[in-house]
Amino acid sequence: MAPAPRAQAAALVDGMIDHLQHLKESGQKSVRLDPDVLGQLAKPIAGQVIPGERAAVPPQTAERRAPPPSAKLPGKPAASAAHASGTALGAIAERIAVCTACGLCQTRTRTVPGQGATRPDILFVGEGPGADEDAQGLAFVGRAGQLLTKMIKAMGYEREDVWIGNIVKCRPPNNRAPSLEEMAACLPYLKEQIGLLQPRVMVCMGATAVKGLFETATPISKIRGTWLSFEGIDTMPTFHPAYLLRNPSAKRVVWQDLKAVLEKLGKPVPQG
Ligand code: URA
Ligand code: SF4
Repeated sequence: MAPAPRAQAAALVDGMIDHLQHLKESGQKSVRLDPDVLGQLAKPIAGQVIPGERAAVPPQTAERRAPPPSAKLPGKPAASAAHASGTALGAIAERIAVCTACGLCQTRTRTVPGQGATRPDILFVGEGPGADEDAQGLAFVGRAGQLLTKMIKAMGYEREDVWIGNIVKCRPPNNRAPSLEEMAACLPYLKEQIGLLQPRVMVCMGATAVKGLFETATPISKIRGTWLSFEGIDTMPTFHPAYLLRNPSAKRVVWQDLKAVLEKLGKPVPQG
């Protein structure tokens, strides 16, 4: 049964307080607020009529728009302070934090918008958050993330020098692969992020991410190592670090792929 409007509104306010508290703890000093929303917030909740409109906020049309008052309790926001308040990237992360455009919003703990440098040489794209990412609101912080960190360091970068994100920003239950519908619902966020970040090169990790970005059924073992173009950006498909944890012998070909990325960037291959 749907929660009573008043309970729903109270839950929404609780979620907002939580979100603002979190922003404060991350060192953010200001938030952007729509004047209409300020007006709404100024009204008392008791007795307030909540319109019964649908909660979904389509990513591309949601810019600068607050979620409707009937939106579900927002997922806890990402823990990253990398999204400075007031930046366009931060605004996207804030929209993601209240997004209900696909069913994954119902089971997430935190949204995981992605994090890192704002004008990176490389943007790494994975599939979607796992349990650790869902708990922390940060992309690639679990075991696969630790391996990704090693791969980034082997390339002569630090995590902070690159941008790390996923096709879907909310964890699929039990780490199942996101469906085509879920990826399609979430992709506009990644496209907006890519547009702002303007990475020189992207690395697309794993079969699902390749399917989500390129709508191809070509197996990752066939397509990896061959340059693709995503919206004009050279993109290297390679195996996912979680696959490498299960199949360490595949690390050799992934390193070939990453060396091709360095070559494309005109960077030396670090020795050792
Ligand atoms: N796997 C992914 O695809 N993304 C993460 O953020 C973590 C694990
Ligand atoms: Fe919205 Fe993406 Fe989360 Fe689906 S996965 S609810 S589209 S942010």
